[in-house]
Order: sequence, then C-alpha cells, then structure tokens
Amino acid sequence: MEKTIKDVFIDELQNMLSAEEQIIEALPDMVKASESTDLKNAFESHLKETKGQVERLLKIFKLLDIEKTEKLCKATKALIDEGKEVIKKYNASPARDAAIIARAQRIEHYEISAYGSMRTFAKELNLEEIPELLQATLDEEGHADKKLTKIAEGGLIKSGVNHKANIAKEK
Ligand SMILES: [Fe+2]
Repeated sequence: MEKTIKDVFIDELQNMLSAEEQIIEALPDMVKASESTDLKNAFESHLKETKGQVERLLKIFKLLDIEKTEKLCKATKALIDEGKEVIKKYNASPARDAAIIARAQRIEHYEISAYGSMRTFAKELNLEEIPELLQATLDEEGHADKKLTKIAEGGLIKSGVNHKANIAKEK
C-alpha cells in the first residue's frame, strides 16, 4: 500500500521519542560539565521540560493508538556523542561552557525543525488536539534555544576568550 503523510507523521513521532529519551539521559552530564550557574540552571530546567515533552509524545501515541518502536534516532545520538567529545576535550572553564552551548544548540535546532514539521503534518491531517501539543513543545524548544544564546552573549563567550589557557592538550 502506498505510504501516506500519516505514516510519515508516525515515523517522525517515533524519531522524536527516541531523541527526547536520549536527551533526558544526556542532560545530567551537561549540567555536571557546565561551570556557569546560569547554564547549569538552564539545562536543569530543560531536563524537567524534556520529561514533559516525552509525556506529550506518549499522549499523542495514545491518541493515535500507536506503539513505540525501538528504532534509535541516530542523528541525536551523533550530536550527543560529539557533545561528549567536547566535554572530554576541555577542562571545566567558560570555554568549555561555550562549546557545550554550541553543541546543545545544534540539538535544539534539530528538535525545532522536527517539531515544526510534525506540527504542520498534524494540522494538515486535522488531528484535533495534537497540533497544540506539538506547538507547546516547539515553543519550549525555542525558548531553551534563546536562553542559551542569552547565556553565551551575557559575557560567557568573552570570559571564555580571556580565560587562561585551560584547554586540555590536544591528544
Ligand atoms: Fe526536547
């Protein structure tokens, strides 16, 4: 049978459930690795938000009567793995915080793009309350992204530039 937009939508939902679950696993390490209190707080509050986002996705799964698959979102895994490499490469410092922000924002943008498409699909498919649920998550991702920009622009990058050579030797 020919695949429909609804099939695409369901694949996207599965992809983002895997993405969010991986992000929940990764965020505590990002909290630990952050030197700035603002950054720690931002990641901590995003962890709480992300748990709510998983709840929303599960609600949508229920509404559509679909089951979760075990298919891993490889893109999120790769983004998280690269973030871990950055954390390992630098000692705790404003420079490392700046690097963590850059990596975290890559993940945010992946999510913003995915939820934007999904919201549009849900609207086009007339899936009643689902577009609003996805919009709520999309708004949270947008705010999280902007908050990270604010932290970076609030002096963190400058202090990172001036911070004494605190970078671990290249391996
Ligand atoms: Fe998220």
